[in-house]
Amino acid sequence: MKHIEGIVFDLYGTLFDVHSVAARCEELYAGRGSEISMLWRQKQLEYTWLRSLMGQFVDFEKCTEDALVFTCAQLGLQLGAGQRRMLCDEYLRLQPFTEVPVALQALNALGVPLAILSNGSRHSIDAVVRNAGLQDAFAHLLSVDEVQVFKPDMRVYSLAERKLGVARADILFVSSNAWDVTGARCFGFETAWIDRRGGTFDEMGQRPDHVLGGLDKLVHLLSHTDVPGLQDRGA
Ligand code: LAC
Repeated sequence: MKHIEGIVFDLYGTLFDVHSVAARCEELYAGRGSEISMLWRQKQLEYTWLRSLMGQFVDFEKCTEDALVFTCAQLGLQLGAGQRRMLCDEYLRLQPFTEVPVALQALNALGVPLAILSNGSRHSIDAVVRNAGLQDAFAHLLSVDEVQVFKPDMRVYSLAERKLGVARADILFVSSNAWDVTGARCFGFETAWIDRRGGTFDEMGQRPDHVLGGLDKLVHLLSHTDVPGLQDRGA
């Protein structure tokens, strides 16, 4: 019998689709939208990890903007100040995955506190959540701004344990980013990997406790257990 007293979500790629920016990229650079969006996200992540290793923190919005500049340069695309602003603003208006709003309602009905723990800045997290009208779904919105280092640094996961006031073993951490699930599991959270597209999990010595096709499956998993206790049923 696994006991869960809090659920902590990653934001980008887990609750919100980072590739919803592809449509705006496509408007500005016809035929290149998806290519831009993919490289942009990859570079954005790399910049967070590299900056953590170097001890050179800048916030997520700056990493996002720098990654966009790199992406356009690499793909040979002109990026004017207006386009740069428009695309970065688009990152504050990401679309939630379709099942997310209803699933969050159902999870809240179970009575377990929900939180977001994201590499996003305080401003980005607030804007993305508010623009989607989901601000009432969460008891905590936690940004790495407080610890000035990015996931998967253990200090970030520790922030969630501290802010929720719940022991790590009693927290279920939910992410669709395999590297993030790996970090969270190293830290000692129970983990669920949201794998919407049949992805490949990272090879870094950890495996998720649960593999779920979407947040609706998480509701299903938790609804069939005693709340706040979670029976460990595996994936
Ligand atoms: C997050 C990104 C990095 O922390 O997925 O929300």
